[in-house]
Amino acid sequence: MANENNKLTNVSSAELTANYRCAFPELSNDKLSLLLSSDEGRLLAETFITKYNYPLVRRKISVCAGYFLKETTRLIQTGLYDSVISFASGLSLLTYLIVEKNPQFSGIFFDTDLPYMVEQRNERIATIADRALDSKILKKLQSMAFDIEAAYRENRSLEKIFPNCKRPIFILDGVSYFLSSGCVDWLLQQIGSYTCSAVTLYYWPENMLERSTLFSRVFKDLNKGMIKEELKSFWDENTLANLQKYFPVVSDWTLEAIEAQMVNDVSECQLIDPNTFFPVRLVTAEKGSKIVL
Ligand SMILES: C[S@@+](CC[C@H](N)C(=O)[O-])C[C@H]1O[C@@H](n2cnc3c(N)ncnc32)[C@H](O)[C@@H]1O
Repeated sequence: MANENNKLTNVSSAELTANYRCAFPELSNDKLSLLLSSDEGRLLAETFITKYNYPLVRRKISVCAGYFLKETTRLIQTGLYDSVISFASGLSLLTYLIVEKNPQFSGIFFDTDLPYMVEQRNERIATIADRALDSKILKKLQSMAFDIEAAYRENRSLEKIFPNCKRPIFILDGVSYFLSSGCVDWLLQQIGSYTCSAVTLYYWPENMLERSTLFSRVFKDLNKGMIKEELKSFWDENTLANLQKYFPVVSDWTLEAIEAQMVNDVSECQLIDPNTFFPVRLVTAEKGSKIVL
């Protein structure tokens, strides 16, 4: 795991986010995902914070997790959708929390990720299921190995891969920057090709290096085996324009604005100076009123 100069080597970022999303359960509603992290993952989550002097990463990930739960619930409650497909679920129990929060929704749920990660996720869920999880909820969650880059290279169709999901809500939590820009364009086109679909995600804007001295410090190490995944792309204005081509309703929020919406009083906000966190942006795109069912 560790060497002298770099204690963070080749561990999935999913271990880190499983820890951080549970740090502020009043924002994320998540106290469970942490249970899927390994001892090594827990140690590395702390080491990452110390090494980069980045304590706000816990808050950042908790805010994002809360946003996805809230947005997916809002979309489900429109009654327009029949399924939720989460890409790159890692060790997050977000879909479990969505089922718990929306017991009336009888739709299909998929958690997908790279094959090794799906295997690890399922093994770890099995070890905590009896003591911490509700078997009725777990039964509603299907898992599938799905490498997004491979699907892009093979130009596979999402409609064929998920044939029973006719009106899906897609979740892309913490993965878009690990995909090549060609893959992101392909994925948005695929997601947008449904008559009725929506997507909620966060992305790394291309100006993050200029906006955040913290990010530019971490950025130098990102592709040096610090984590298993490799940074492949940022979003630019063309990526967003692409999304707007497929979805008439697109909301594109700063992380700071989402935190401000979640707290009771603005004095509780901690994500204020972008030099102390990664100033990512959060997006929900939907077909909105233009859907003809
Ligand atoms: C930062 S973690 C996010 C995990 C989870 N969504 C969360 O927020 O806790 C990134 C995830 O992306 C997955 N990933 C990376 N490249 C991928 C690809 N080409 N296809 C599918 N998943 C991928 C990794 O396996 C990892 O689980």
